[in-house]
Amino acid sequence: MDIGEMTPEDIPFAVRITDKEGWGYVEEDFVKILEMEPRGCFVAHARDEKVGMLTTINYGRTAWIGNVVVKSERRNQNIGSELISHAVDYLRSESVESIGLYSYLDAISFYEAIGFEQSFRVGRFSGSGRKSAGSGTRKFVMEALPAMVSLDQKYFPGDRTRLLSMIAKNDPGLMFWAGNGEVRGYIGGFCSQKACEIGPWVCDPESPDLAESLLLDCFSALGDKEKSLAVPMENGTAVEMVNKNGLTKEFEVVAMFFETDNSFMDQDGIFGVGSLEMG
Ligand SMILES: CC(C)(COP(=O)(O)OP(=O)(O)OC[C@H]1O[C@@H](n2cnc3c(N)ncnc32)[C@H](O)[C@@H]1OP(=O)(O)O)[C@@H](O)C(=O)NCCC(=O)NCCS
Repeated sequence: MDIGEMTPEDIPFAVRITDKEGWGYVEEDFVKILEMEPRGCFVAHARDEKVGMLTTINYGRTAWIGNVVVKSERRNQNIGSELISHAVDYLRSESVESIGLYSYLDAISFYEAIGFEQSFRVGRFSGSGRKSAGSGTRKFVMEALPAMVSLDQKYFPGDRTRLLSMIAKNDPGLMFWAGNGEVRGYIGGFCSQKACEIGPWVCDPESPDLAESLLLDCFSALGDKEKSLAVPMENGTAVEMVNKNGLTKEFEVVAMFFETDNSFMDQDGIFGVGSLEMG
């Protein structure tokens, strides 16, 4: 078995293999992932066949692993473990301190066997959401990006500029920020042809009213489309807010960190994560 960097030629394979898991990707999603991390996404080959893949994104102090999948007929042959070890070695060589991922509950033992440890739970919610406008939020403008990133860094241990820039470029109409003079909260969203994913959703925990306005304005911008959002279950304010505004919990995942959880998010300010694949 051989592991190599994912290239644009691997994208049809990535769509096919993730489609079998029902993850809802289209080609443009992987184009964007590769644009953000051209050297950090990997494909496993056995002879001439592509048999597995994963993606990573490096935020400096912290990096995130996502889209871990092995062809169903090639499972239990150590391919998944080797892909993860390869990604961990790569991220360590890039001086990342903390490597995280979100695991389905039935895959926890797979990651534990490789050296990941369980941390906090995240619930994935979806629905069409309540329709009512927020108040006091502002539409995204490029000038607000640096202040959004510095607010983000109060709660997330890494620099998510590339993720926020990608979201802003893809769909600036889904991005809002709130605050008087300074940015106290922001929300972004990402729609592909198949799905609309809200996040990150970050706000000063002392201002839950702003957090709710951000959510409602993002809902309004999405109209009748089905919306999904992943919320740290320990942020009770956020959980209550998404329930109250019409989303229901589909399932939970657990955040896991390689060897030690040596940074971690201040979940009071993380109302919604970036995405299950990108932290
Ligand atoms: C999870 C997955 C990537 C593992 O890949 P793999 O190549 O089969 O993994 P390995 O052969 O390296 O390791 C398999 C071990 O993990 C265990 N395991 C734990 N959870 C598992 C799960 N959900 N599916 C398969 N194996 C799992 C197996 O029992 C096996 O343990 P053993 O060696 O003690 O028998 C693969 O099963 C897969 O693609 N699943 C579907 C997609 C998915 O759920 N991805 C994880 C997203 S969080």
